[in-house]
Amino acid sequence: MPQNTPSLRDLEHASAFVDRHIGPNDAEIAQMLRVLGHDSLDALTDAIVPGSIKSGNPLALPESLTEVQALEKIRAIAGRNKVLRSFIGQGYYGTHTPNVILRNILENPAWYTAYTPYQAEISQGRMEALINFQQMVADLTGMEIANASLLDEATAAAEAMTLAKRSAKSKSNTFLASGDTHPQTLELLRTRAEPLGIDVALANSEEEWNAALAKGDFFGVLAQYPASSGWLADWEKDAEAIHAHNALFVVATDLLALTLLKSPGEMGADIVIGNSQRFGVPFGFGGPHAAFMACRDAYKRSMPGRLIGVSIDTEGNPAYRLTLQTREQHIRREKATSNICTAQVLLAVMASMYAVYHGPEGLKRIAGRVARLTAILKAGLQQLGYDQFHHASAFDTLSLKTGEKTDALMARAVSLGANLRKAWDEYICISLDETTTRADVELLWRIFGGDDATLPSIDALDASAPSLIPAELERTSAFLTHPVFNTHHSEHELLRYLRTLADKDLAMDRTMIPLGSCTMKLNATAEMIPVTWPEFSNIHPFAPAGQTQGYKELIGGLEAMLVEATGYDAVSLQPNSGAQGEYAGLLAIRAWHASRGESHRNICLIPESAHGTNPASAQMCGMKVVVTKCDANGNVDVADIRVQAEKHSANLAAIMMTYPSTHGVFEEDVVEICEIVHQHGGQVYTDGANMNALVGVAKPGKWGSDVSHLNLHKTFCIPHGGGGPGVGPCAVKSHLAPFLPGALGKDGVRTEGTGNGAMVSAATFGSASILPISWMYIALMGAAGLRKATQVALLNANYIARRLAPHYKTLYTGRNGLVAHECILDVRPLEKATGIGAEDVAKRLIDFGFHAPTLSFPVAGTLMVEPTESESQHELDRFIDAMIQIRSEIQAIEDGKLDREDNPLKHAPHTAAQVSASEWAHGYPRELAAFPLPSLKLGKYWPPVARVDNVYGDKNIMCACIPVDAYKDDVEG
Ligand SMILES: Cc1ncc(COP(=O)(O)O)c(C=O)c1O
Repeated sequence: MPQNTPSLRDLEHASAFVDRHIGPNDAEIAQMLRVLGHDSLDALTDAIVPGSIKSGNPLALPESLTEVQALEKIRAIAGRNKVLRSFIGQGYYGTHTPNVILRNILENPAWYTAYTPYQAEISQGRMEALINFQQMVADLTGMEIANASLLDEATAAAEAMTLAKRSAKSKSNTFLASGDTHPQTLELLRTRAEPLGIDVALANSEEEWNAALAKGDFFGVLAQYPASSGWLADWEKDAEAIHAHNALFVVATDLLALTLLKSPGEMGADIVIGNSQRFGVPFGFGGPHAAFMACRDAYKRSMPGRLIGVSIDTEGNPAYRLTLQTREQHIRREKATSNICTAQVLLAVMASMYAVYHGPEGLKRIAGRVARLTAILKAGLQQLGYDQFHHASAFDTLSLKTGEKTDALMARAVSLGANLRKAWDEYICISLDETTTRADVELLWRIFGGDDATLPSIDALDASAPSLIPAELERTSAFLTHPVFNTHHSEHELLRYLRTLADKDLAMDRTMIPLGSCTMKLNATAEMIPVTWPEFSNIHPFAPAGQTQGYKELIGGLEAMLVEATGYDAVSLQPNSGAQGEYAGLLAIRAWHASRGESHRNICLIPESAHGTNPASAQMCGMKVVVTKCDANGNVDVADIRVQAEKHSANLAAIMMTYPSTHGVFEEDVVEICEIVHQHGGQVYTDGANMNALVGVAKPGKWGSDVSHLNLHKTFCIPHGGGGPGVGPCAVKSHLAPFLPGALGKDGVRTEGTGNGAMVSAATFGSASILPISWMYIALMGAAGLRKATQVALLNANYIARRLAPHYKTLYTGRNGLVAHECILDVRPLEKATGIGAEDVAKRLIDFGFHAPTLSFPVAGTLMVEPTESESQHELDRFIDAMIQIRSEIQAIEDGKLDREDNPLKHAPHTAAQVSASEWAHGYPRELAAFPLPSLKLGKYWPPVARVDNVYGDKNIMCACIPVDAYKDDVEG
């Protein structure tokens, strides 16, 4: 080989992906290191990370793969899943994702890389989509108000149970549920009820149900409509009986069925929950899908999850915002109504657009076809000699008594390419859906009729088969009457509507989103691609294990990777958000204490700097939260922890701490804290949301922590989706492994690696279909790439803190004056002098085209910046330039050159309409308002609304689509 010619190995560039994921190139890294006075990433890491926790060895993971290699590998894994026709039902149904929605939402970074709409002005597009979701749910369920999604149907039912407990006048401690409810829902009710001391009673027959209703010993009652087995009942009288006992009536329902059926609201329901999955979101082996909750207006203030509402901006124009933000986890902490933070925004957006696209008539057509096919299927089965149906009424599900032939028929179905549901040992349930074809109905007849049977004629039966929907349950009320559901039915119209909404928002496809504690890093296209492969997306969560070998391999592989990255011994991928991971981890701790005869241990120490979901999760586990102090440097106060641990020694269950802390520092004493807590019989829970500062550098499982959740939607590249989906795996040391979440009864699908504890999500593997994203990320980065990513995350944060040091104080630093992967910029001193607060800075950043850093968390009045490793030096400099310009504007106020009230910060953000209006009443120029830096003239983001009025929004709560009249004045005026 000639000298100076690169080797073939060099040219093959196996680490190409690492270089693309990590923003700064090697020359930039070197230059940024110089700014910090270090000569290598290792030296910088040594200066930041305490020696007591540093890992001695590199990660035992393979080397990085190229995108082509990784996709090939995961393609082979996907190929080991078998996609059969699914008639299983049980809460999950086949659906056609409209291609325009698939490509322009699910596969579009403008939607999937957005963050939770905390900054209202740059989130108007996704909030409009979410308010459409709320309106759709409220209309179909017949309720007054609906929220903007929950994690899954089963947890939504559990949330409804606790909402009923908070709201009902009845003093009973029992929640009654109909036995004909989806099994996963019943399982989750039990999980959530037990730590709170609630009894879940089941009524398994009409007699049991009537007797329980007559007795009235309950604070809430749940019925499924249509029932899990498919029957349809009018619950109006039952609702009256329930209300007579001062209890609340909860109905679990199906949105598609409600297009044809009398709504639960019309029957007297108080809370209605369900899953919007069949509105265009594939099975995905159980998730993610958007669950929903609707309720009477009276309960809106204690409703869990997020609510989008309508407020006004400073110009008086309607503008969306998160309503009742005081219910947000950051504020309510242990008084929170639930621990829901990340929910299922992206999937809620998809479901709402499915309704926008099809409109009420289209939805009725889809539902009507399903109902007709079900009636024809039943008539055909009767012709073939089957007449023992569990119920006469049905929308889409038939339950057929098959007695001793059950197992043979189930096996025959699989051999002919179909999955059915076996229930109560001798029944088979068959659920049809939007994807069911005439050929499917014939296939089902063939399964039941045998190879030689003469099959009935579909058209002949269509003429004769009676409707299975009882006349008194037919829907007469209108729904989806708002113009948004009656306009965008052509593909062009929908395409443009989606584009209009996306253009209103700032997502990662336009700018860095430097949100502290949120890790908004690159969500690479190659990582996203497998998610929509049918081999991953079209698998029903209860498909037989033989058909899900690919998932088994993927999940097993990912679990092993995460075990290696964290130093724990076992991982459960079931929790479908970070907070669910917290809940699973605390439940494991609780069960472990109980297994040792120490169930009295119920005190959970939580430093005051903790994320609000920590105390909320502890409270949901029946633990008592004791808040511990932080010292002047932002570190947890070890002395206080020692005092509290001693004081509560006999009852200490756990400490929950975030590491590196939410203050953005690596605390030196973490090992000592673990020892103190262990000495007093407690367990150490490390919130792993900040794992992006640790991967490849240190392992919580090795420094004395017992359990952590990770946020795969932060550290491991699952995009935030505008506020969900998420995956919050729970990782534990071996003694806690048996208490990790288990799987559903005997029909559930299991793999090794998870425990036998209570289920925390509806599906065994939670948000399974997005697990390929994290698998791909780890495979693409390899051991060395992952470590380098962590190191560059530390570098980027310190580079920002250092370059901004002359302009803004970084509130807390650790050893050597360095921060971890994020830094808190303290603008409070400026506020005293100029009246400009953190919120003004956040809003002014919008004029520069930036999404603000995290505002007022964990310290009120500050901005927490987390750049992540994926931001290039160019993007960091752009942000720094904006922050310096903002500082100079603040200085101008201080110097009297800009007015204290009338300045570009107080009036930010500026809309195009304001800047181009004939009148300009401000004492500063329009140009400064709109183009504070010359570079903005090359590309400018215009916020669609001016600053949104929060107080107005909370005083005038309105959580439905804006009536068209609201815009009329504008047009006419
Ligand atoms: C430190 C910390 N813990 C827990 C969570 C909760 O995670 P999730 O929103 O997925 O429930 C977050 C979310 O931002 C967090 O920052």
